[in-house]
Amino acid sequence: MNMNRREWMQRGATFALGIGLGERLLASTGKPPLSGEVKSAGSPKFPPKFLWGAATAAHQVEGNNVNSDNWLLERAPNTMYKEPSRDACDHYHLYEQDINQLADLGFNAYRFSIEWARIEPEKGFFSRAELEHYRRMLEACHKRGLTPLVTYSHFTLPRWFAYQGAWENPESADLFARYCERATAQLGDLIAYAATFNEPDIPYLFHWINLPNAPAGMDLAGLMAAQKAGLMQHLNAPQFSSFLIGDAEKSRENMMAAHTKAKSAIKSAKNIPVGLTLAMEDDQPEGPDSRYAEKQADVYVPWLKLAKQDDFIGVQTYTRSRIASKALPPPQGAELTQMGYEFYPESLEHTVRLAAKETAVPVIVTENGVATEDDTRRVEYIRRALAGVKRCIDDGINVRGYIHWSLLDNFEWIFGYTPKFGLIAVDRETQKRTVKPSASTLGKIAKANSL
Ligand code: BGC
Repeated sequence: MNMNRREWMQRGATFALGIGLGERLLASTGKPPLSGEVKSAGSPKFPPKFLWGAATAAHQVEGNNVNSDNWLLERAPNTMYKEPSRDACDHYHLYEQDINQLADLGFNAYRFSIEWARIEPEKGFFSRAELEHYRRMLEACHKRGLTPLVTYSHFTLPRWFAYQGAWENPESADLFARYCERATAQLGDLIAYAATFNEPDIPYLFHWINLPNAPAGMDLAGLMAAQKAGLMQHLNAPQFSSFLIGDAEKSRENMMAAHTKAKSAIKSAKNIPVGLTLAMEDDQPEGPDSRYAEKQADVYVPWLKLAKQDDFIGVQTYTRSRIASKALPPPQGAELTQMGYEFYPESLEHTVRLAAKETAVPVIVTENGVATEDDTRRVEYIRRALAGVKRCIDDGINVRGYIHWSLLDNFEWIFGYTPKFGLIAVDRETQKRTVKPSASTLGKIAKANSL
């Protein structure tokens, strides 16, 4: 099959963006400990105070995030984005209704991100009004008994920061820490868990994602570089960079420093549990030439090591990847999701076990879900994924919560609004929400705290 470059980019990216953020913690925070490690083998019950939630990310649901680097990328000539985000789900205005809906369904947690590009739209100017907006969101969560988990950076960046080299800029760690400190000073008393970054390992993961029928040696990282070259010409801004199209090596170094500095900055403003979330494919070695260990070392190990110092680790998984001398395609005849991934809910159990073993800190499943138009498959996915989480807990692994991706059908980055990850559907014209059966199923499990 012949594909042009644009088709390539879209096809390749279907394998990318969805892989697409204890007591030890809380002893040092002075906060009341959460539920202890509960061995509940034999009982269908999850531990007391288990977090049951759904997640969103600001850019994917708020709409009109005009000061963001992604707003620019979505509109650039030859953009990889299928369509721009525009009004998204207008969650910026409809958050109260969405939060109430989540609580009505029986959940007890909401994970969302605050948008740096709104809070600091110009370097050094921190908008009190925008911070107040997020304060109202946090208050809405507390009013309805939802524990808020807040991500400070979910991929998108302020435009000014991108023009200064994004994560390639040696000052980026300090700039990010300053933003985190300012945001926490105004919001920290209402935040239960803070994640500095959502999936900072993604740029390295891109090197391990095969593109079917790609020109020799071309991986997703190569496609990102091609996108960047086009963009640079258009912007005429030699320093411009962004999370997904930047120099992965330089960016990782700075993001790791940024995580550590931001953690101190957050804790200096308010002593809350801080961690990060990782994109984790369930890697499975295949054959004698498997590069499994190399992939682990390349993508996850540096972050897992860093997370050992954190208060928790957020695990985010969607599928497995069988690693021979390269990543193999899904097995013949396997059920595929709208993203082209193998339907494989067992990936959650495997990645939770790995993250817990490597970090020895409490695990929160901060994302897990499936893109499908057939909601009965989402129900099946959830049930199987949760059975795996329960097995982990029964084995004594300290898992604190399950946060489903996503609360709403939303803007799935370069794929636009096509993939449907939501527990709740959103009418693209009217913004009317429709609760899907999977939302009720997961809500009932949450209410019962039991499968
Ligand atoms: C990201 C989300 C994305 C989801 C589904 C994760 O990689 O954190 O922003 O929408 O996967 O692809």
